[in-house]
Amino acid sequence: MDLKYIGHSAFEIKMENNSILIDPYVSNNKKYNWHESNITDIFVTHAHGDHLGEAIEIAKEKDATITAVVELANYCREQGCKVRSVNFGGWIKYDWGRVVFVPAFHTSSLPDGRYAGEAAGIIIDAENVRIYHAGDTALTNEMKTIKELYRPNIAMLPIGGNYTMDAEHAAVAANWIGAQTVIPMHYNTFPEIQADLQKFGALLQLNNSTCMVLDPDKV
Ligand code: NI
Ligand code: MN
Repeated sequence: MDLKYIGHSAFEIKMENNSILIDPYVSNNKKYNWHESNITDIFVTHAHGDHLGEAIEIAKEKDATITAVVELANYCREQGCKVRSVNFGGWIKYDWGRVVFVPAFHTSSLPDGRYAGEAAGIIIDAENVRIYHAGDTALTNEMKTIKELYRPNIAMLPIGGNYTMDAEHAAVAANWIGAQTVIPMHYNTFPEIQADLQKFGALLQLNNSTCMVLDPDKV
């Protein structure tokens, strides 16, 4: 497995035969070229523009399927995409692994202001690695159940504050979640979400987690 950080909350997970995208706000990174990847599935945690990103366009070009909570999936279907419509708590199976949507504490609305269902985080099982992508979320007590139920190896956590938890709360979340490796996301993209990565790394060290900072310039 190859983890590519596209920037903000966008990741490509490259597996042996295919790739999946999470929150593909790819227009934010001119160096990232998705045209060359065999993208089969796109996951969108919620409908805000910095997460839905270019999901519709990519899904159409690649004939990929968008998986999202019912209301957001309906919107993507209206735009002409193949979708898998899901909700919280049940594993969804794919050729390459399985995924479960978990709650996030955040809002979710479409570009036209319509309600888009609840915001989610996602847990992905692929190639013997379990990844938790928290989406946009505040620190919530629910994260303790992520550890109890799922024990992820890698946690992708927003640290920018303002719209989500900040670095301090993300370090508490990391401790509750118990992942060995934590990848910070959703920071420095906009002026209001500047974050101190060194401070975050130091806070994680106190709990024996490793902070893996991925550079979107090296995507
Ligand atoms: Ni959001
Ligand atoms: Mn966001």
